[in-house]
Amino acid sequence: MTETRFLVDSYLEWINTEGIPVVEDFGIDLLSVEVKPWARLEAQGAYTLVKGRGDFLDTYVLEIRPGGSTAPQKHLFEEVVYVLDGRGSTTVESSSGQSHSFEWGAKSLFALPLNARYRHYNTSGQKPARLVSTTNLPMVLNAFHNLDFIVNNPLSFPERLGEEKFFKGDGEFIPMRPGRHMWETNFVPDLSTFKLHEWKERGGGGSNIMFVLADGTMHAHMSEMPVGTYKKGHRHGADFHIFPVTGHGYSLLWHEGDHDFIRFDWRHGSVYAPPDMMFHQHFNTSPEPARYLAVAFGGLRYPFSEDKKRTFLGMDVSVKEGGRQIEYEDQDPRIHPIYEQEVRKHGLEPRMDKVLVAAGR
Ligand SMILES: [Fe+2]
Repeated sequence: MTETRFLVDSYLEWINTEGIPVVEDFGIDLLSVEVKPWARLEAQGAYTLVKGRGDFLDTYVLEIRPGGSTAPQKHLFEEVVYVLDGRGSTTVESSSGQSHSFEWGAKSLFALPLNARYRHYNTSGQKPARLVSTTNLPMVLNAFHNLDFIVNNPLSFPERLGEEKFFKGDGEFIPMRPGRHMWETNFVPDLSTFKLHEWKERGGGGSNIMFVLADGTMHAHMSEMPVGTYKKGHRHGADFHIFPVTGHGYSLLWHEGDHDFIRFDWRHGSVYAPPDMMFHQHFNTSPEPARYLAVAFGGLRYPFSEDKKRTFLGMDVSVKEGGRQIEYEDQDPRIHPIYEQEVRKHGLEPRMDKVLVAAGR
């Protein structure tokens, strides 16, 4: 008798045959998560699945031994890579055989163009290199449930490679309006020094940039909170994976009507994703500006879902006006005193007074 196939998740079934750890948690420390030999990539790895990952995305950690390289790959899912530690290079081949190489280090960001053949190299002879990839393999594998179609497909997408400068750390600035300015590229050498643009409406004197990477549907953006500040709370659908880049701090999360907050403390190496429509608010407790990268499915150019369109339009608009943000004057009165206490624990003074006075508190 054949086995009854019922409530099948083709993605989860497949990753459990890969022979590497599958770690599931609310948030994960990617620098310390255990990796094991991964035959398919000729490296080490672990799947790292966070609670708010949504239906479309996963993340995995890849570790390449000193002087080592991965087996060449190509696939019909999109992949955005953030470098956690180490130095190396990646070579991407176009269908015409042209090769594009770039060198990365900790806090680099890059995307692998759809179905282009690529290979990663660790250029250090001493230190392992550790990367984290966010991919839409869950979406693609659950749609086709045929891995061969995804990793052995001859179709090429030359339009996804973009301009040669996109592999050189250069790109194109596409001005929109605060909070929606875009930088189109395939590779950002160092997120910690990348220029951001003021975005008053999200609060705290913060700034941001939206990325368009390898003309993909995967979204990435980066935001910064100055020292002594926190952003306004807001909510949206699942799958915005948050990777802190500089500084440290914490986030509070709650569903509408909850009495208590969930707290998640973060720094470079952490990942978590606010679950579906859970309010969340980010707080900087470090003596330097705190930056974080967020990677999701559905971007400003190709939002893919109605929810992402609403998120990108309403993320800095008050819930009282049909948007998704809680203005400072409407926030839970416990939030500000918690922050004052937390930031002083780190020997710093809150610098929110001007921001809150401007908001009418
Ligand atoms: Fe958010």
